[in-house]
Amino acid sequence: MTLATAPGKCILFGEHAVVYGRPAIAIPLPQLRARVDIQTLEGPAAQGLRIQASDIGVDAWLHELAPDDPLRRIVELTLTALQAKTPELQIHVHSDIPIASGMGSGAAVSVALARGLSRHLGAPLSNRRVSELAFDVEKLHHGTPSGIDNTVIAYEKGVYYTQEAGPEIFQISGDLRIVIGDTGVPSPTREAVRLVREAWQRHPADYEGIFDQIGAIVRTARSALLDEGGADVGKLMDENQTLLERLQVSNPALRALISAARDAGAKGAKLSGAGLGGIMIALPPHGQGDLIRSSLEQAGAVRTYLAEFEA
Ligand code: PMV
Repeated sequence: MTLATAPGKCILFGEHAVVYGRPAIAIPLPQLRARVDIQTLEGPAAQGLRIQASDIGVDAWLHELAPDDPLRRIVELTLTALQAKTPELQIHVHSDIPIASGMGSGAAVSVALARGLSRHLGAPLSNRRVSELAFDVEKLHHGTPSGIDNTVIAYEKGVYYTQEAGPEIFQISGDLRIVIGDTGVPSPTREAVRLVREAWQRHPADYEGIFDQIGAIVRTARSALLDEGGADVGKLMDENQTLLERLQVSNPALRALISAARDAGAKGAKLSGAGLGGIMIALPPHGQGDLIRSSLEQAGAVRTYLAEFEA
C-alpha cells in the first residue's frame, strides 16, 4: 500500500491582487491534511481504477466520474505525465480540511493524489511537477487561479509568490502564531474572483491602484516576517483587510469575526482566501491564542485553529 498526504494552507497577505501579478504570502497548515492510500487490485475485483472519497460521497470507477471531475482529472493528468495506462487500483481519499473554506482542500487532494499515484507506480514526481498538475485542476475550480494554492501545498513551505517569478520559499524568522476562524459560510472562490474581475474591467485604474497598495503591503510583510522587529505584521493585516473591503470580497460573517478578534486584543485580523465566506485570520498577542480562539467561537466561528510556526 502507498500512503501520501498534503497539507491545507492559508494566505497571509495578497489574495486577489496575486491574480493580477502582485505578490502574495501563504503558509501551509500541516495539522490539516488530505490523505490518500493506494492498493493494487488483484483477482476478479481488478476491473480498473476505483476511487472512494467518502467525505464527498464518491465511490466509483474512474471512467464513471464526469470528465471534468477534479478527482478524475488529477488521476488522468498524473497518468499522462507518467505515460502510464490506467492501472488496476483502489484509491481511498480522505481530507480533514474543510471544503470551500479558503484552506486549499481541493488543491491538497490533487497534490496528495498525484504524489501517491506517482509513488505507487514507482516514478515519484517532483514537488514542482505535482504543483503543475494540481494547478491544471485548480483551473476547473477557479477559472483563473494564480497558482499560489497548489504551490504552497506541494512544497509544504511558506511561500512568497508572484505569477511571473513563481515561488520563493519563505523562512519565517522568529515564531509565528496565527489564529484561524471559519465562518462556516462556503467561500465561492470562482464567484469572488469573477466579481473582482468584472469590477476591475469597469474601473481598471481604481482596481490597479488597490492591487498596487496590496502589493506594497505584501512586500513590507515579507521583510517583517524575515527580520524580526521589522514592520508591525498585525497592522499590515488590518491594512490589507481595508483594501479587501474595497475589493468587496468581505461579508458580514467575516466582519463579525474580524471585529471579535480585534476586540479581544488581536494585533491585526483579515479575511484569508477568496472571501465572501470561508476563513479569517488573526495575529494573537504572545500567549493569547486560546483567548482569541474562544472570542471567535463566541462570535459564531464554526471552527477555529491555532497555526504555529517555529523558526
Ligand atoms: O479561496 P482560496 O483559498 O481558493 O484562495 C483564493 C485566492 C485568490 O487569490 C482569491 C485566487 C487565486 O487564485 O490566487
